[in-house]
Amino acid sequence: VKVLAVYNAKGGVGKTSTVVNLAFEAARRHCRTLVWDLDPQGAASYYFRVAPRLEGGAKGLIRRRDRVSGHIKGTDFENLDLLPADFSLRNFDLHLDRVKGRRTRVAKVTKLLVDHYDLILLDCPPQISLASENVFAAADCLAVPLIPTTLSVRTLDQLDDFRTRTNQSEVPLRCFFSMVDGRKRLHAEVMEQLWAERSDVLRSAIPAATEIEQMGVHRAPVGVWAPGSIAARAYGDLWEELMGSLRVSA
Ligand SMILES: Nc1ncnc2c1ncn2[C@@H]1O[C@H](COP(=O)(O)OP(=O)(O)OP(=O)(O)O)[C@@H](O)[C@H]1O
Ligand SMILES: [Mg+2]
Repeated sequence: VKVLAVYNAKGGVGKTSTVVNLAFEAARRHCRTLVWDLDPQGAASYYFRVAPRLEGGAKGLIRRRDRVSGHIKGTDFENLDLLPADFSLRNFDLHLDRVKGRRTRVAKVTKLLVDHYDLILLDCPPQISLASENVFAAADCLAVPLIPTTLSVRTLDQLDDFRTRTNQSEVPLRCFFSMVDGRKRLHAEVMEQLWAERSDVLRSAIPAATEIEQMGVHRAPVGVWAPGSIAARAYGDLWEELMGSLRVSA
């Protein structure tokens, strides 16, 4: 895998937390890693202490992709760079709709970057739109965090439908459970059911953990300031299983 998109149409399921922590896991295993923050809210940029600003905005980025390297910022971590968010990404669909090759503009940008990185992680906003089609076209794999509730399972069915309708079902999907509460019977039931029904649901799960909530205070991946915590180890395990399942050694 070169381009890994962390995607779910649902908001607040742990996409950004996953991107930030998987990026850290990749970088400390000597993967040259780039995080592309595609969310106008700029949470991934915030966690990496980078201003959420692109000169020329999202429109400039897709129209002058040859200038993309000029927008990339370093982070506090070796092997870990960031392509920051910009508030204009809230109109990303409109900008994409006005250009030729409207479904492959994000892919055209990532193609320019793959030679410089071992892994490009896309932090996607919670939506299912033209921008999402662009993400699917760019990605070698979609990693989908799922809170184990019945509603999340429905969102996953909708994603399958959307990918079929847009002819994008061939991109491998890897789902994993997020914000798992070991005390909730419903969580355990939904997890067992999905593990039984689908082969693309990983065993590694991210527990509901205060350390993950506290990332906003520390503005750093959990592995940096709580390396032995259950949360940090869960992201390490997720990274290993994800890469193993995609048969790519980091
Ligand atoms: N495993 C977890 N345990 C506890 N809190 C979590 C966990 N994962 C995420 N959170 C918290 O839940 C909130 C949403 O998480 P996050 O921003 O990662 O989700 P998201 O899917 O990227 O959201 P959005 O759709 O708004 O981009 C954040 O406040 C985060 O700190
Ligand atoms: Mg997010």
